[in-house]
Amino acid sequence: MQGNLKSNTYMLRDEKSLLTEKLKNYIPEEYKVTLMPHFCVDNFIRCDESYDSFIEKFKKTATQGGGNTVMRQMLHIGGKATNCASALDSLGLNPCLIAKTDILGYKLLEYFLEGKNVDISHVSRDGELAFTTAIELEGVNIMFSFPGVTSQFGPEYLTEDDEELIRESDMVCISDWGLNNCGTKLARYVFSLVKKEGKGKTFFDPGDPSPKKEREEVEVKGIKNMLKQGLVDILSVNENELIRYGGIDFLRKVTRVDMHTEKYVKTFYNDKETEEIPAFNVEPKRLTGAGDAWNSGDILGEAMGLSDELRLLLANSVAAYYISDLEGKHPTRQDLIKL
Ligand SMILES: Nc1ncnc2c1ncn2[C@@H]1O[C@H](COP(=O)(O)OP(=O)(O)OP(=O)(O)O)[C@@H](O)[C@H]1O
Ligand SMILES: [Mg+2]
Repeated sequence: MQGNLKSNTYMLRDEKSLLTEKLKNYIPEEYKVTLMPHFCVDNFIRCDESYDSFIEKFKKTATQGGGNTVMRQMLHIGGKATNCASALDSLGLNPCLIAKTDILGYKLLEYFLEGKNVDISHVSRDGELAFTTAIELEGVNIMFSFPGVTSQFGPEYLTEDDEELIRESDMVCISDWGLNNCGTKLARYVFSLVKKEGKGKTFFDPGDPSPKKEREEVEVKGIKNMLKQGLVDILSVNENELIRYGGIDFLRKVTRVDMHTEKYVKTFYNDKETEEIPAFNVEPKRLTGAGDAWNSGDILGEAMGLSDELRLLLANSVAAYYISDLEGKHPTRQDLIKL
């Protein structure tokens, strides 16, 4: 695939060849990335029909007293931390996942990650499986989610071994704060541990704060306090999240902001900022998981010590490959070199 990937501007051509050279030459395989806390099994119900026709069928079945509807269904690996770990593995790093699930969930995780070098020895099996069913209709997805333990993943779930892993990691990433009722406590605890006793950088992808509902204001205040204390090195947000977490004038003073949108991406910190680096011109087959793929490229760029511009270009290329691949495969380094 991907023969149709093309950068949007002439200016990026030189940077693309520079990035290709760097990807050919060196990957810091020993760079340890630890991600938490979400693993989930996604069940996709693929209905190639409109919402109206689906509802019509649904009603008809209900009024005749119930019955069966034949539809193609597929289980997928899910959860932001898990997806990003899987993408990092494809790129050549050996990430570690800290999460909680149940026995069935663990077996499925092993199956999904078979042949990959994602360390799942920090995934415990004494929780509940997080499970999402998504009905994919033409132009709209309806999801039914059971968050399992993910909605309550606080610092008390971390074991001594997990904390040791956090201390010795080069990068510690937390995502899905929006879905986690204990998200602020978890982020504060983990990032403080890195800053006080660890050696790595901290990467935060809080996601959409909307699930916090009436608690959004107070919860966002907690995040802003954490940012003011310098606990977050890198904040990954889309354009809407950027506003919801305090706006660029505030955020750039307290962290490095890696902002991504469907059209362009940009990094800000203090008085520095990059140009807008355009997203690749591809035809998306899916958008779910674009942010996780993008983060994996951003993290690899950080691990490789790339310039801001090359790092953003790498992140865009990883996301573009993933969203336009027929099977939703995350790219390897070779795939990116061929682009
Ligand atoms: N339509 C698109 N065309 C090309 N690239 C895209 C498109 N949509 C997303 N991307 C790539 O994926 C990146 C991440 O997408 P986006 O900013 O929408 O993530 P997000 O809102 O955080 O999504 P998520 O819900 O997955 O967290 C973009 O910056 C871009 O590089
Ligand atoms: Mg996102």
